[in-house]
Amino acid sequence: MDNARSPNILLGVSGGIAAYKACELVRRLRDAGCVVRVVMTRAATAFVTPLTFQALSGQPVRMDLLDAEAESGMDHIALARWADRVVIAPATADLMARLAAGLADDLLTTVCLATEAPILLAPAMNRVMWEHPATRGNHARLLERGVRMVGPDTGGQACGEHGAGRMAEPASILQALLGGAPLLPLQGRRVLITAGPTREAIDPVRFIANRSSGRMGVALAEAAREAGAEVCLIHGPMALPAPAGIRNIAVETAAEMAQAVLQEIPAADVFIAAAAVADYRPRTTSAQKLKKTADTLTLELVRNPDILAQVAALEPRPFVVGFAAETENLRAHALEKMQRKHLDMIAANDVSGGRAFGTEDNALTVFWPGGERRFPEQPKALLARALLALIAERIEETRASEPMETGR
Ligand code: C5P
Repeated sequence: MDNARSPNILLGVSGGIAAYKACELVRRLRDAGCVVRVVMTRAATAFVTPLTFQALSGQPVRMDLLDAEAESGMDHIALARWADRVVIAPATADLMARLAAGLADDLLTTVCLATEAPILLAPAMNRVMWEHPATRGNHARLLERGVRMVGPDTGGQACGEHGAGRMAEPASILQALLGGAPLLPLQGRRVLITAGPTREAIDPVRFIANRSSGRMGVALAEAAREAGAEVCLIHGPMALPAPAGIRNIAVETAAEMAQAVLQEIPAADVFIAAAAVADYRPRTTSAQKLKKTADTLTLELVRNPDILAQVAALEPRPFVVGFAAETENLRAHALEKMQRKHLDMIAANDVSGGRAFGTEDNALTVFWPGGERRFPEQPKALLARALLALIAERIEETRASEPMETGR
């Protein structure tokens, strides 16, 4: 594409209710100077007529691969070559499945196989369909292949439910398609995350643990994958299921978590320690259940390895992010912890009064050497996305200010 002209955009529309929002996208793309050609799936025509897109784009709309007359004009290969960028909005679960499988059973999927242009998807579907392991798997496969994603957003859905699956707004799609910022801020990066509590056995039936649910770490893992990263999640015993489509390693004790982390860390570009690791474990674990014979029982505890500090001491090391759960003096404690453990960033939680642990929502104040940002109370999924965007931003800035490549 020469830089002087606006890109030729091939807009694919698949069959979902969000198809009506694609009309607005065409208008905005044309306002931006783009030539837009629309290819619809058969199902899409049940939601918006081809005539609507034809009027808005000022170009003929294509649907069929085996349309001899249309193919004699600009055939599917010529269409694939013509496009500087392909955007599919909405991209339904079915369309994502067909693209992931490499099918070419209609014009849109055929053009996607035949084009060398970058492809951007704006997924839109019911939240249960979006979370289904089949869709998660297709999403991950497409990301791996370099297909980029914008959204979906979280909110009210046409089906009356609330959750992730709303198509991104046309303005966001436009920004993702034409804006300078990378669509997937962690594309190609490998992110290692710890989550949940650890369990330190006292005897075969009792253990020391804490109130961590693992929710924040799981939200971070999902957000990192959405941001294009290859994710590994190492987690202690959690009540919630490990996220589908993400490599995860289940451990129980801090020592096991440390071992798993040190094994995986050489392959990581970013390490996020979201686990609430038990600071101490019983010096000995009784092989038999302890009997209540005495009035008092003294357990001797010994320090567990500090996984985060160990990772931060490695050379070379990844970009290291810690969490600080504090009940008082949040800022002072977080800053002290960041310096003492040599972190690149620390996310501080106020856990006084039962806040943060096990809850759906949370607020964070994030510190890095020379800066801080406050994220107000919001669902952990949104918070995770915001934190990862900040991590990506900091990585870019750290890199830009480094005179040489340090291996990070
Ligand atoms: O010092 P403190 O335990 O408050 O530090 C919290 C941070 O350190 C969290 O990011 C937690 O995941 C990490 N941590 C760790 N290993 C430990 C203790 C804490 O990785 N043994």
